[in-house]
Amino acid sequence: MTRHFPLLFIALGLVALVLGSFIGLLISFTYLDATFLKEIIPFNQLRPLHTTTVVSWIVLGATGGVYYYLSQIKNITIYAPKLGFFHFILFALTGVAIYISLLSGRMGGREYLEYFPLLTIPILVGWILFGFNYFKSLFGKIKNRPVYLWMWGTGIVFMVYHLSEAHFWIFSDIRSDFIKDMGIQWKSYGSFFGSWNMLIYGTAIYLMSKIKKDENVARGKTVFFFYFLGLTNLMFGWAHHTYILPNADWIRYVAYVISMTEWIILIHIIYAWAKSLSKAQKKENSMAYRFLMASEFWVFVNLILALLMSIPALNYYMHGTHITVAHSMGTTIGINTCILLASVSYIVKIISGPLTSKTGYYGFILFNISLAVFWLSLVIGGVYKAVWMSNPENLSFSTLHSESTPIFWLFFLSGCALFIGITMISAPLLKRLYNHMKLSKEQSN
Ligand code: HEM
Repeated sequence: MTRHFPLLFIALGLVALVLGSFIGLLISFTYLDATFLKEIIPFNQLRPLHTTTVVSWIVLGATGGVYYYLSQIKNITIYAPKLGFFHFILFALTGVAIYISLLSGRMGGREYLEYFPLLTIPILVGWILFGFNYFKSLFGKIKNRPVYLWMWGTGIVFMVYHLSEAHFWIFSDIRSDFIKDMGIQWKSYGSFFGSWNMLIYGTAIYLMSKIKKDENVARGKTVFFFYFLGLTNLMFGWAHHTYILPNADWIRYVAYVISMTEWIILIHIIYAWAKSLSKAQKKENSMAYRFLMASEFWVFVNLILALLMSIPALNYYMHGTHITVAHSMGTTIGINTCILLASVSYIVKIISGPLTSKTGYYGFILFNISLAVFWLSLVIGGVYKAVWMSNPENLSFSTLHSESTPIFWLFFLSGCALFIGITMISAPLLKRLYNHMKLSKEQSN
């Protein structure tokens, strides 16, 4: 089992994706009936359960992919597979502890990391072990490194720092100053997302170079420019998380330009790559190709929303509406999840042959159509609320809520379809991973 540890990360990640989406579905029903599950598990516990589970999918899917690809690179063997396996066990056990903390209501952490704060320690240890294994495996092995190796290494190092930074509120000096506290808190989140984007965008470039069978895709000026832009974004692109704080205007403008440029370049890289592929190359890795193309579409859609959201006059009204949720779910599902599902499809194809499952294909179609409706319903709900908030003679909040009911139904029903799509994609992948690990175990016995 130890040598399959990258696949264990991926399998657990897929389970988290399905489970997290199901919990999301439960939350979306509370929009229609506020009393739903209230007595068993209230919204303030259900929401973090959802966000923590889906964030775990992103972290586990990206980590498993990086470990797996590392083991596939010529001249490289993973320095300590046992340590990698230990990393997996540590994350899995911490996941259980986080669930106990959230379900029992013994929380205490800040937004997105609401679980009992000490549980961050094993997570940090896991990232440090990951970094140690990663750099030790690469040390002195490769000259003229392709960009994805730089991106993965950078993502790991910055993740360790920003995860720690997100807990600086434990120091009373910071906690006692509201602006300093909120500034550091939201800055760390922006950089935290930037760090996992490094892992995920590095994965996208790795996949593009492998599908095209051309290492030059991961070398050259454009991809390295993209890397440095991503790095700058990681360090300074957090300002849109701190619009409400009294920051200097130039900080906002710089952050805004960098983050938009990064997306435009990503669209350009994927577009140029897709144009240069032959029909045979597209067919050979059809599922991975489809997910990468879908991610390009979702980058484009989210870019438009982000451009609108960043106009200060509009941001003023959109803030705190469902438009913000459309932005976070649009990017984490449309961009991050699509790239990671491309990665998992690619790996599963390598270990067990072409993906012929019709279920997966129809799941892909359902996933994209339902995500579009899901995303639009959040935007419409957000615009409706923004218009309501800007009208001084507005109706009561309960009237707003009851008038929004058709939109919430649309959100819930498209959420059901999205959940079914995600399950149809994940189940065949999980089955293949399981069969592969079982078979190798039997062969080695
Ligand atoms: C069937 C699928 C899903 C449904 C029905 C769903 C539903 C929801 C709901 C109702 C919320 C709470 C919004 C609020 O605070 O009012 C939420 C938040 C969130 N969801 Fe999902 N979700 C689904 C899948 C996913 C997936 C797959 C991801 C990521 C991979 C994701 C990422 C997030 C994030 C990041 C937030 C926090 C939003 C914010 O704070 O702005 N969701 N989701």
